[in-house]
Amino acid sequence: MAQIIFIEHNNDQHVVAIEQGKSLMQHAVDNGVPGIDADCGGGCACGTCHVIVDEAWAAQLAVVSSEEQQMLSMTPEQQQTSRLSCQVTVTDALDGLIVRLPEFQM
Ligand code: FES
Repeated sequence: MAQIIFIEHNNDQHVVAIEQGKSLMQHAVDNGVPGIDADCGGGCACGTCHVIVDEAWAAQLAVVSSEEQQMLSMTPEQQQTSRLSCQVTVTDALDGLIVRLPEFQM
């Protein structure tokens, strides 16, 4: 079973089965992973779905759009591998993907 691992700021881990074609944000929300507020419902307009992608995986995700980059730049905890999870579409190729949650969302 292909899966994603979400790691909270306190190191609690949530292993979630991949559903092809759904966003990373939707995987978190549908599986009760805390810390992903997704206030805009995936419209790249709120920044409350911020995650930090494990460095080993960052290059395997689609390129960050200018719209996403602009929203990320307003995120206080932005890091080099930060992404808005609503903008990342998950496929089985991402089996084992590790993402960390920031301490706070915007
Ligand atoms: S859910 Fe609002 S930017 Fe991702």
